[in-house]
Amino acid sequence: SLQPVILCGGSGTRLWPLSRERYPKQLLPLDGDNTLLQDTALRAGAPGIELAPPLVVCNEEYRFLTAEQLRQIGVHPAALLLEPVGRNTAPALALAALAAAGPDTVLLVMPSDHVIRDTPAFRAAVAIGAAQAEQGAVVTFGITPDRPETGYGYIKVGAALAGSPARTLDRFVEKPDAPTAAAYLESCDYLWNAGIFMMKAGVALELLKRFRPDIEAASRAAYEGGAADHDFYRVDKAAFAACPSDSIDYAIMEPLAAGEPRLAPAVVVPLDAGWSDVGAWDALWQVADKDAAGNVARGDVLLQDTSDSLVFAETRMVSCLGLKDVVVVETSDAVMVAAKDRTQDVKRIVTELKAKK
Ligand code: GDD
Ligand code: MG
Repeated sequence: SLQPVILCGGSGTRLWPLSRERYPKQLLPLDGDNTLLQDTALRAGAPGIELAPPLVVCNEEYRFLTAEQLRQIGVHPAALLLEPVGRNTAPALALAALAAAGPDTVLLVMPSDHVIRDTPAFRAAVAIGAAQAEQGAVVTFGITPDRPETGYGYIKVGAALAGSPARTLDRFVEKPDAPTAAAYLESCDYLWNAGIFMMKAGVALELLKRFRPDIEAASRAAYEGGAADHDFYRVDKAAFAACPSDSIDYAIMEPLAAGEPRLAPAVVVPLDAGWSDVGAWDALWQVADKDAAGNVARGDVLLQDTSDSLVFAETRMVSCLGLKDVVVVETSDAVMVAAKDRTQDVKRIVTELKAKK
């Protein structure tokens, strides 16, 4: 059986004014009626493989919203593991691995803030990954890059595997600098890391113990010192606060890929499923369904002679005339109008707003 793990942290400042510290990206309905978290929970699975209820790792602050959104779609988590503070994804993975049924349970670790348009293609890739993870491998999912993005991990694709569309993973480089990313794109040897991982719970803990014994020990102390509270599981606050912060990419993937000999096989499954991590408004426009004029509109929106734009109206009617390539996001307390090719810089608005507070 397959154990989904949903990672639910982070705030997504580039999607201001919709995403806020208290209302992060994954809890918003950015792509259709469901929120990204709900889509993530519903997407989990693979043909022919039994699916366990998900383990959800989230910040304590979002526990009610997270639980309520899952309830709305009829998903009953095996556990909602609450982090008193964010310590990035490596400790979150450790908590999930400790909460899993046993060391041989295969985890499907999913960020909760991505858009994946093609669920059947995603599930087919998960089935390929599951076969590898069953044999002890660490499985990544690779996206064909189309720009020298520096915010992603890059995977150098190695040899084909016998009897599987998966490939060996030759190198893993998290967030390379711009010249390196450009060289990787040029070489055509690299895929982007989708941020989705599969591995046995026992493999996750063993690798952490080897590469980051500090994180493994602190997460274990936090888990073992924790207690159930209704539907939630609260880890020990002091122990978790003492845990170093790091991501799966830096804490596990880079040292695993660089190690000789490898402590576990590492593979990459190509994923062509309309993936986007919706890092900014232009990325959401890119993946969303558009009308004939190339617009993505939500809410009470009236567009005339407007094209290739994204217009979201939350509380009022919004009309645009004679515009092209703009993003307009209206909420009850803030309205943002931006050139679509500048939406990567929206975090500058957030930074300035915070400085003024
Ligand atoms: N529970 C929990 N706790 N979840 C967390 C935490 C935390 O402390 N920090 C981050 N997350 C969740 C985020 O909500 C998101 O869903 C996911 O883990 C990944 O975290 P990000 O902070 O968004 O990572 P990133 O975008 O910088 O990089 C990762 O994703 C890229 C693809 O989008 C890496 O895996 C890259 O290699 C990858 O290319
Ligand atoms: Mg991200």
